[in-house]
Amino acid sequence: MKDIPNYCLKQHNTFKLDVKCKRYISFDNLYEFVLFGKENQQIFYDKFLVVGEGSNLLFTKDFDGTIINPQTKNFGILRETATEIIIQSEAGLKWDIIVEETLKLNAFGLENLSLIPGTVGASVVQNIGAYGVEVSDFVESVKYFCLEDFVTKTLTKEQCKFDYRNSIFKNELKNKAIVVAVDFNLKKTPACNTTYADIQKYFQSDNDITPIKLRNAVINIRNEKLPDPIVVGNAGSFFKNPVVNTTKFNQLLINFPDLRFYDLQNGNYKIAAGWMIDKCGLKGFEYNGAAVHENQALVLINKSGNATGKIIKELSEIIQEKVFDRFDIKIEPEVIII
Ligand code: EPU
Repeated sequence: MKDIPNYCLKQHNTFKLDVKCKRYISFDNLYEFVLFGKENQQIFYDKFLVVGEGSNLLFTKDFDGTIINPQTKNFGILRETATEIIIQSEAGLKWDIIVEETLKLNAFGLENLSLIPGTVGASVVQNIGAYGVEVSDFVESVKYFCLEDFVTKTLTKEQCKFDYRNSIFKNELKNKAIVVAVDFNLKKTPACNTTYADIQKYFQSDNDITPIKLRNAVINIRNEKLPDPIVVGNAGSFFKNPVVNTTKFNQLLINFPDLRFYDLQNGNYKIAAGWMIDKCGLKGFEYNGAAVHENQALVLINKSGNATGKIIKELSEIIQEKVFDRFDIKIEPEVIII
């Protein structure tokens, strides 16, 4: 376990922002942490934040509290049925490692979620998603350390209240739980999800799609469109795709026949925020060292490497205003602004 005062977080946020926290705690052994947590409960009565890889955070200033960084990385097969393999992973494991390792075990389902930055713990808090799949599709249960009575508890998938980039951990259990492990229900027989337009385009006439091929396709598509946080600071999609009702959708279609959207099949439509930002002419737009990414307008980047969180936030507000003026839709950040 590490317990360090006045700690620099530059390596712990993918925007690479040079901010500090008052106290930094990391742990690689769950039982040691649970014991520490029980004996140091005051940490959780003050300001604290659990950070995985910091791939969905924007720090606008130093963090006046404790950062808790799970580094627990054990994973393995919990049990098998004739058709399913249940894999358990601790929260600190890098997300893409679980995708790679489960494929090696012939446990299928996570391949569309290849290369998403972040950790296993964060994957369920945020209900990560890409290319037609959300992690909640494969979650069986989530184990968390409860900060009300300091014991570990388990929630079933249904109890996690998963929604688009949302879960109970961002709502009722916000600041009351630290995710410590996730059980994934994976399949023994591949069922490749190739519904997403980019994937279909990638494979074209290839009919022999295997999970490994699909993982490689996703990796290639992501590398083409999305900036690598190791090269240029970013946090993936900065905004969520807004959801509109049929009336609003029909109005939009009249004014913008080339509108990009996903039909949610329930009378609502998710509008591609990246497309709207692009339509406002903001692709590549620069603001004091921060910028809108040139290949995917939903992504904001720390282009100069020296942009502050405050500047990136200002850029996001400029974008929100322009999108609102043009489409009469308020786009909301997906990234958590601290
Ligand atoms: N588009 C543009 N211009 C742009 C960006 C997008 O015209 O600058 C168009 C695309 O051509 C496409 C549509 O908008 O027709 C949607 O774009 P894309 O397929 O890239 O997906 P997205 O809706 O912008 C979402 C997720 C991504 C995920 C992709 C693929 C959200 C907020 N973002 O983006 O997730 O990788 O779908 O499934 O839902 C993330 O959450 O950090 C993330 C990267």
